[in-house]
Amino acid sequence: MKHTEIKAILEIHRRAFGETEGDEIAQLARDFLDHPDTISISAQRDGNIAGNMLFTPFVFEDHPNTKCFLLAPCGVSPEYQGLGVGRELMESGIKHLKSIGTDAVFVLGVPTFYPRYGFAPTDKQTPYPDLLTVPEAWMALELTAGSVGKLSGKTRAIPQFMHSHWWDTSQHG
Ligand SMILES: CC(C)(COP(=O)(O)OP(=O)(O)OC[C@H]1O[C@@H](n2cnc3c(N)ncnc32)[C@H](O)[C@@H]1OP(=O)(O)O)[C@@H](O)C(=O)NCCC(=O)NCCS
Repeated sequence: MKHTEIKAILEIHRRAFGETEGDEIAQLARDFLDHPDTISISAQRDGNIAGNMLFTPFVFEDHPNTKCFLLAPCGVSPEYQGLGVGRELMESGIKHLKSIGTDAVFVLGVPTFYPRYGFAPTDKQTPYPDLLTVPEAWMALELTAGSVGKLSGKTRAIPQFMHSHWWDTSQHG
């Protein structure tokens, strides 16, 4: 990925998440983009990147052959919010993950947004199950029928996402 594209993606997340979280989420996105298996999906408007989402590998330690990804972050530039960019990102992201044989996608996020695209609260573990104070914020989307039901036990995100801070829902709105 070109340096200018990386810069544009980080700027999207910094602005989408605003003053309180923007800088740290942009830094997280930068860390994720350094990981070779991160998948980046962008949506363009007026010749520029208007929104971006990243998917990073997510592993159930007892089920290493089940191909799972985590969706984070997902952001749209404030001037383009409410205009269908988020929907386009979700639809193309899910389509791409299906095309590469993904079994399931997990997200820790807004419980009113992701269910529009098939995500539903899940009882599978986050890497820090004790820190999940808002259980409805942890959701899964099954892409291969029957894959999620078989999953159990401990989970692991990429090292850049294993800091407990990101999994403590009492710290995030
Ligand atoms: C949340 C976000 C990604 C949605 O993108 P968007 O381009 O504004 O969304 P769209 O215009 O494509 O809207 C898609 C649908 O989601 C709904 N929606 C948009 N933002 C929403 C939100 N924060 N909560 C719940 N629903 C939301 C819209 O009403 C729309 O519904 P409809 O299809 O029934 O009309 C974007 O607003 C954003 O970047 N917000 C700040 C960062 C953030 O909160 N990211 C998600 C964190 S987990």
